[in-house]
Amino acid sequence: MNPIQPVEEGEALKSIRIFGFAGSLRNGSYNKLLLRAARELLPNDAQLELFDLDGIPLYNQDTEVHGIPESVKRFKEKIESADALLIATPEYNHSYPGVLKNAIDWASRPYGRNSFKDKAVAVISATPGAFGGVAAQDQLKQVLLAVNTHLVVTPAVIVASAHQKFDQQGNLTDEDTKQFLTGLLSNLTEQARLLASRSKPTVENITIRENR
Ligand SMILES: Cc1cc2nc3c(=O)[nH]c(=O)nc-3n(C[C@H](O)[C@H](O)[C@H](O)COP(=O)(O)O)c2cc1C
Repeated sequence: MNPIQPVEEGEALKSIRIFGFAGSLRNGSYNKLLLRAARELLPNDAQLELFDLDGIPLYNQDTEVHGIPESVKRFKEKIESADALLIATPEYNHSYPGVLKNAIDWASRPYGRNSFKDKAVAVISATPGAFGGVAAQDQLKQVLLAVNTHLVVTPAVIVASAHQKFDQQGNLTDEDTKQFLTGLLSNLTEQARLLASRSKPTVENITIRENR
């Protein structure tokens, strides 16, 4: 349980900590580049820490019962100590990669210790194709609702033809994408602030209970 403290009137608002990760393990991933670009476009009152999912093992409930791996513990702690999450997803076969689902499944466990609960979350995507990962985003958002996050969905950051939108050094060059990303980060930060000002966290709403 991570009770959210109410923000007292007049209290100085702290910097919003955003934790970001991509569903690609690839060096040179467009989605990792998009996260890197996000760091340059943050509101003044936010900071972004990036994490690589390389090192998160395949989920196995036997492993969970015997003790959560250190890499997963670190991942869960990073999520829990953040005010908001930014997830960049590639699209694999009209969905999001298994690497990402695996990491989400780990962080939602053990039962009753879901690290995502009540986090503000935004999803962004990039593909070299014409549709920018919109199908992957839709499916990922369904799962993020199931783990009780608060999705921030506008403006949509869906980067099609990604190979044309970064320079040789990996810097985002497309002005429209920069504008959408700036808007999304602003809304994500605002949502995190709203959630932090609430006096009570929501009741966990995962409906499938385990009998053990
Ligand atoms: C298994 C696989 C399936 C893919 N399926 C799609 C797809 O359905 N739609 C799409 O736009 N791109 C698809 N792609 C291309 C990815 O968008 C492309 O490899 C992209 O660069 C991956 O993201 P990354 O650059 O962050 O690693 C697929 C790639 C792989 C490896």
